[in-house]
Order: sequence, then structure tokens, then C-alpha cells
Amino acid sequence: MRKPFARIAGVGSAAPDFVITNADLEKTLETSDQWIVERTGIRERRKLRDDESQTDLFAAASRDALTRAGVGYSSVDTIICGTCTPARRLPSAACDVQARLGGGTAAAFDVVAACPGWLYSLTVAEGMIASGASRHVLALGGDRVWSIVDQGDRNTAILFGDGAGAAVLVPATDDRGILATSLGAEGTLSDLLYIPAGGSDEPPSTQVVAEKRHLLRMAGREVFKVAVRRMAQACHQALGKAGLRAEDVDLLVPHQANLRIINATAGEAGVPLEKVMVNVQHYGNTSAGSIPLALVQAEREGRLQPGMVVLLVSFGAGFTWGAVLVRW
Ligand code: UT7
Repeated sequence: MRKPFARIAGVGSAAPDFVITNADLEKTLETSDQWIVERTGIRERRKLRDDESQTDLFAAASRDALTRAGVGYSSVDTIICGTCTPARRLPSAACDVQARLGGGTAAAFDVVAACPGWLYSLTVAEGMIASGASRHVLALGGDRVWSIVDQGDRNTAILFGDGAGAAVLVPATDDRGILATSLGAEGTLSDLLYIPAGGSDEPPSTQVVAEKRHLLRMAGREVFKVAVRRMAQACHQALGKAGLRAEDVDLLVPHQANLRIINATAGEAGVPLEKVMVNVQHYGNTSAGSIPLALVQAEREGRLQPGMVVLLVSFGAGFTWGAVLVRW
């Protein structure tokens, strides 16, 4: 097994205070707590208030991660933000986070990869450290998913929430760090989970908004099937690259989209459920925020110890997917 190039020195996460329960959704949608719990495992999710920003979450998660890593903000030379819901179209979310954290001149850019955005960020960060281009990278992931959800569509409005996370990556000095990564995408399937308009082909207009074509559309059942298959494959690929097997995994932290998807993915990846981190019941699907929110909770609950083999895996719009294998 090769020596890791980069180590995750600290992780942090942040979610809004405002909670929306299934009972709240029952008041406006033709749905029920029973249906949502049975089909998804979700009981509540968080939502940013109108006067709050996703940048607030990224800044809070970053401060948390920097403190835990023992790295000063002034040492950060690169900020990478995995998000598909930047606070505004220009500049990047990463530049807004940089300004909020105290400025400076670190390189700052976004990675748009939907739900696996954080795993894409970690992979880019690892590569920049391996090449010597960067030494201290702040790799963020998160989304304000409520901003792109049609609140009248019961197919999607029950699933999502807002949240974010951050990791500080530094050069590895021993066998702890990122052991292997496996990213993939299949753009030909984009129409199964996408936002029809609002980009440069068809910029926002009153017509786009009236037809709700600036909001998310999803073919849930199809997404479900591909998600399980691709996440399981990504797990096997990352393990294979590192010369490890499913039995070597101490903790699997999958994308928190749906409890049934989590259970099916763990089964196909060969990881028993007692080694799987689940918090989808409290946050729903926070897109790129989901894995760091779950990982940080696992760490705070004492489920993550130095030396453990941790497998992160995600899937989302694109389609995109990715797995990152870490010796903690
Ligand atoms: O991050 C990646 C992004 N997305 C995902 O990971 C989502 C992947 N997909 C899923 O999680 C699931 O497909 C859903 C939770 C979205 C849907 O669950 P399902 O078991 O695939 O249900 P379904 O779409 O096959 O619908 C079953 C029934 C339908 O009624 P009929 O046709 O059987 O009469 C739906 O109209 O459930 C109905 N339904 C609902 N009923 C109550 C769909 N949404 C709801 C709802 N409340 N919210």
C-alpha cells in the first residue's frame, strides 16, 4: 500500500437551528409522517432562515475544523468548496467564505459535483498536496438545498435539508491519511436529477420562475437504483486500490439520502450495518453537507478513533459519485 499524501487533520460541520419536522410538512403537502419514515427514514431536516446564508454555515464549519486541526487560518493556502448552491453566481462560494473568515490571498474555487461535492473537494485537495501545490487546504462541502427545492413537490420537498462541513488537509507524515479515492460521473443520465433552467443557456426570467424550471426535478426510483449500484462499485474500487477488503472497514459513512439506499449500499459493499454511520433521520439529504455532518457526529460520539479505516461514499446529480478511503 502506498504512503498517504494527505491527512485530514480536523473536521467540522454546521447546520441551521430551524427544524422542519414531518408533521410540519403534513400541513402543506399530501404526505404523511408514516410514509416519509417508512420510505426514507427521515424524521426532520434543517432550513436556513431568509436572513441567514450558506456562507454562515461554511464559516462556522471551517472555524470548527481549523480549531480541531490546530491549524491557524493564516496557514491555509487553498480553499475548495464543493457546492451546487453558492450564495450567488459570482464570485465562487469559496471566495465568499474566504472573505468571511478574515480574507487573505489563498487560492479559492468551487467544485460543482452535487451530493459528492465534498468527496470531490477532498480528492482535489489531496492531489494539490501530493503535487506540492498546496500545504494546508480547507476543503468544504455543503448545500442550501431548500433554495432549489419546489416546496410544493412531495417527491422532493420531503427529502432535503441545509447543512455544511469542512476538513483541513495537511501533508501526511505517517500511515494516516487518504489511502485511495474513486470518483466517477455519467453525464448522459443528467435528466434523472437536474434543474432545467437558470444557467447560461436559459438565464433566470419571469417565465422560468413561473414554470418552476429553476428548481430541482428528480426521477426518484431511477436515481435510487443507480445510486446503490454506483456507490457499492466506488467502495469496492477504492478498497481495491488500497489493497484492502470490506472486512477491513471500521466505519462506513455513506451519503445520507435515504435509509433504504444506505442499507442497500452497505449490503452491496459488504459492510455490516453496525459499522455504518446514519443520521439521515435528523438532517435529511443535505447534498454535499451530508457526509461531513455524519462524519463529525461519528467523531463526537467516539465512533472514530485514530488508525481506523473509514470509507466515505456518495452519489448525486450528474450523475456523479465518489468514494474516499481514509486511515483516520
Ligand atoms: O442525493 C441523491 C438524490 N436523490 C436521492 O437519493 C433520492 C432517491 N430516491 C428515493 O429516495 C426514493 O425513490 C423516494 C423516497 C424519492 C421515493 O420512494 P419510492 O419508494 O421510490 O416511491 P415511489 O416514487 O415509487 O412512489 C411510491 C408511491 C407513489 O404512489 P403510487 O403511484 O404507488 O400510487 C407516489 O405517488 O408513493 C407516492 N409518493 C408519496 N406518497 C406520500 C411519492 N412521494 C410521496 C410522499 N408522500 N412524499
